[in-house]
Amino acid sequence: MPPQIAAGAYRWTRSRAPHKQAAHQKPLLRYARTGRCQAGGWGVSAYSQEFRISVAGLTKGMYVTRLDRPWLGTSFPLEGLMIGSDEDIAKVQRLCHFVHVDVARGKSPDSRYVLLGASDLMEKARGHDAIAGLRKTTWETRSDFKAEMPEAKKAHQSLEAGIEEVMFDLQNGRKLDLQKLKDGVDAMVESISRNPAAFIWLKAIKRKNDYAYQHALGCSIWAASFGRHLGMNHDELSELALSGLLFDVGKMRLPSELLAKTTVFDEADHELMHSHVQHGIDILNDTPNVPYRVLEAAATHHERHDGSGYPNGMHGNDIPMFGRILGLIDIYDAMTSVHSYADSRSPHQTVMELYQSRDSMFQAELVEQFIQTCGIYPSGSLVELSDGRVGVVTAVHELKRLRPDVMILLDADKTPLREFYSIDLSHAKEGGDEPLLTIKRGLQEGAFGIDPTELFLD
Ligand SMILES: [Fe+2]
Repeated sequence: MPPQIAAGAYRWTRSRAPHKQAAHQKPLLRYARTGRCQAGGWGVSAYSQEFRISVAGLTKGMYVTRLDRPWLGTSFPLEGLMIGSDEDIAKVQRLCHFVHVDVARGKSPDSRYVLLGASDLMEKARGHDAIAGLRKTTWETRSDFKAEMPEAKKAHQSLEAGIEEVMFDLQNGRKLDLQKLKDGVDAMVESISRNPAAFIWLKAIKRKNDYAYQHALGCSIWAASFGRHLGMNHDELSELALSGLLFDVGKMRLPSELLAKTTVFDEADHELMHSHVQHGIDILNDTPNVPYRVLEAAATHHERHDGSGYPNGMHGNDIPMFGRILGLIDIYDAMTSVHSYADSRSPHQTVMELYQSRDSMFQAELVEQFIQTCGIYPSGSLVELSDGRVGVVTAVHELKRLRPDVMILLDADKTPLREFYSIDLSHAKEGGDEPLLTIKRGLQEGAFGIDPTELFLD
């Protein structure tokens, strides 16, 4: 279990130890942790300054913080390794090509062995390992879409009520009360772990005008669904879902005019907008019992794989996993949830655009896993079938993502139907007299005047 962080015990700051770093070098270290914590061994003040070095440059007295492979599976302690002997050096050299050393806790490396630049095969392998390492379980689908819908609706209402209360509190200068979100998050995680399709469908059709509210709810639903796909256990799903509700909580401290602004941002607007990350950290620091990774998600969800993000320009695998996941979900949900259809993209278009961002804004493996979660045609996508009928995707099957359930809205000549009906494309059979019924293409939001938010499924 990650350490629970005491209120006020956590601050995200830039690393201090600039004297260790030549002026021409890029800042190698991203943030430092300070302060006291309730449990888990974070009790010392630590400013770390890490360098990636070739193992050929290891000497006694260096402190190794990371290997180029998972610590599990080695005999080294998980929290890091002080190199105390030639035998330690030989052991690391047998297992690794590169390691990270912390010069705040041990000897500095000879500059000939320091490796600058984050992107290489080792980093990719480490990123892959980190994602694979999330898998603790494989969730079976334990209810069908229709059977899950009543439970999902109840959980959705509970979550809605909790978010509304918390937002009202923050807008009125009261403190964040995590307890008010707990029942809704628990009920949502239960429903999504049984079958995510019902909740994702509710997200697709239930849109409110309040963007902050809608975005928090949407990101939380995607977070739980993505975590389920990655094989996280129940407690991790709850933390990730809570992160989805709270990662942007700092925006509650921004002027409403800025949030409502539809014209192009100038530099001052951007600066103010970026400050929501620190506001979020402050709010969460001031809240008892916030899990460590929820705070990490708030602090790092605008960092980007290629280093182009803020506030610290972190790179690749240095970005904590919850920050990487919420960064990706934040963009996906924002792109599919813009206030008017004129501005928004369909879920299908968004998936295609995310795919283009592999290894630039986002880690490729993470993008691919996320697309596996939501499907090429996510729930809520308008699609045209191979026979010309038009419908909306209602549920994506885990093993047949290109053959979802589709609710047919227009017949083949695009005439609106008086009564809608559903087709399960996963049951379409190949080899018969009829051509195989498939999805021909994804359609723009609002195509043929269809608004999925007007559809209800009882
Ligand atoms: Fe944000």
